[in-house]
Amino acid sequence: MWTATACGYRPGLSSGRSAMARILITSALPYINGIKHLGNLVGSMLPADVYARFKRQQGHEVLYICATDEHGTPAELAARAAGQDIADYCREQHDIQKKAGAEFGLSFNHFGRSSNPPNHRLTQHFAHVLEQNGLIEERTDKQVYSIDDERFLPDRYVEGTCPHCAYEKARGDQCDNCGRLLDPVDLIDPYSAISGSKNVEVRETKHLHLLQARMQDRIAEWINSKPDWPQLTKSIAQKWLKEGLRDRSITRDLKWGIPVAYKGEVRPGFENKVFYVWFDAPIEYIAATEEWAIVNDKGDEWERWWRTDKGADDVTYVEFMGKDNVAFHTVSFPATILGSEEPWKLVDTLKSLNWLTWYGGKFSTSQNRGIFMDQALELLPADYWRWHLMANAPESDDASFTLEHFASVVNKDLADVLGNFVNRITRFCKARFGEEVPSEGAYGEAEAALEKELDAKIKSYTDNLELMEFRKAFVDLRAIWVAGNEYLQVAAPWTVIKEDKERAAASVRCALNLIALFAALSRPVIPFTADKMFAIFGLDPTEAGRWPSS
Ligand code: 2FM
Ligand code: ZN
Repeated sequence: MWTATACGYRPGLSSGRSAMARILITSALPYINGIKHLGNLVGSMLPADVYARFKRQQGHEVLYICATDEHGTPAELAARAAGQDIADYCREQHDIQKKAGAEFGLSFNHFGRSSNPPNHRLTQHFAHVLEQNGLIEERTDKQVYSIDDERFLPDRYVEGTCPHCAYEKARGDQCDNCGRLLDPVDLIDPYSAISGSKNVEVRETKHLHLLQARMQDRIAEWINSKPDWPQLTKSIAQKWLKEGLRDRSITRDLKWGIPVAYKGEVRPGFENKVFYVWFDAPIEYIAATEEWAIVNDKGDEWERWWRTDKGADDVTYVEFMGKDNVAFHTVSFPATILGSEEPWKLVDTLKSLNWLTWYGGKFSTSQNRGIFMDQALELLPADYWRWHLMANAPESDDASFTLEHFASVVNKDLADVLGNFVNRITRFCKARFGEEVPSEGAYGEAEAALEKELDAKIKSYTDNLELMEFRKAFVDLRAIWVAGNEYLQVAAPWTVIKEDKERAAASVRCALNLIALFAALSRPVIPFTADKMFAIFGLDPTEAGRWPSS
């Protein structure tokens, strides 16, 4: 290991902290139905992690919460396909997803489960207060009923032809082809996803409805008060507002889920029904924070993050999600929160992403197409995937993942630019000065010019991370690494040492310090590599990873 004598120095920068803020971050809850693919990862959890790490390095108090989304037809269908009891299936799959997340370096403060008791309690609480506030109504609905399966077929339990685009395998809740949200009774030629039976009919059944239409003005006013939301989020939210908010049913004819009950009393007539997964899932953001407090013995501290009457007024809340989730987060969940008339924290900004495609087509869990998180880690280290996915994040448009592009980006950026810089200078120093940062020689013009260049580049990089413009940010980071290589090329200590050992020592010292600086700057996106870079000097990543400010 190297002695760390001179590594506190950072060209042109003091490592400062801005005023400490409290930042709550959530990423869309991954469905429990199997390990997630790279498209899911880059759509919410990975950018959220990068942002959480960046904010922590700036010295802010960050709470990054996620959980598995365990209810609804995706969970039931997947457990059925696996031939497992649903509770066992969810427990196993939760552990698998939790492990893969940890191995990918996802720095959740808590990774909860939407099926845990806090979410039952909170979901039932919200339904109760919404009803008290006149925003929930019991209505008789028409639902597809399978005579052969002897049950109603909500959401994904029924498939058929999309009434909008004629796609033949549209699911009852949403068409995978055109993305439209559907009502199962609108499907043409419906059939049971359980048995394939076409022996289905429409029957009447009672459900609770959230009267979102009544909240149109309030939601519109709130959305319009957020002109700074990222463009993609704003345009999707506006589209939904323009179409007009519709009342939506928040219960389903299913067994697995949160019972339609309050304080232990099941609502009469709702014995075989549960809350709709999209009603309880976002509430799990709050409930998972309560889980975090329980697990970490923090009592009521979760309320400091969520209750504006208990200190959450100071919190900045940022949500990350794929574009198909925007409506639920800009309209439905806010309708729950606002409609409760209770002092819950609302989201401040929502970062949404487009799709990552697999060679231009769909990544698909059900059809096992693409690369999944566990497979990815069997092939290569997490940081390779993290870098490629974030540097090519589907921000302004959908982005296509190909293995060829992946290999070329990783080779060029991580091996040729960053890796080469670190290897070259550490090897040279070891050979000529030993495993110690050389202290002789003073910095000169070349170092002053480098300081100036890095100052500007770090400012741009930091600004882009603040804006969550990840592609732009990682163009900046790469340019910072390139600047290090160019400095070394010009300083050429391997030539200079022949005539001026002190000068060579100064440039070696500067370049070694750049390794520590690059580690700090790279840590949000390639944390494992960054920590190895700090380890060269025996530096503590938490301390040395403070975000530089100019
Ligand atoms: O689309 C999905 O993958 C959902 N499971 C996201 C839920 S996000 C939330 F609101 F909980
Ligand atoms: Zn369609």
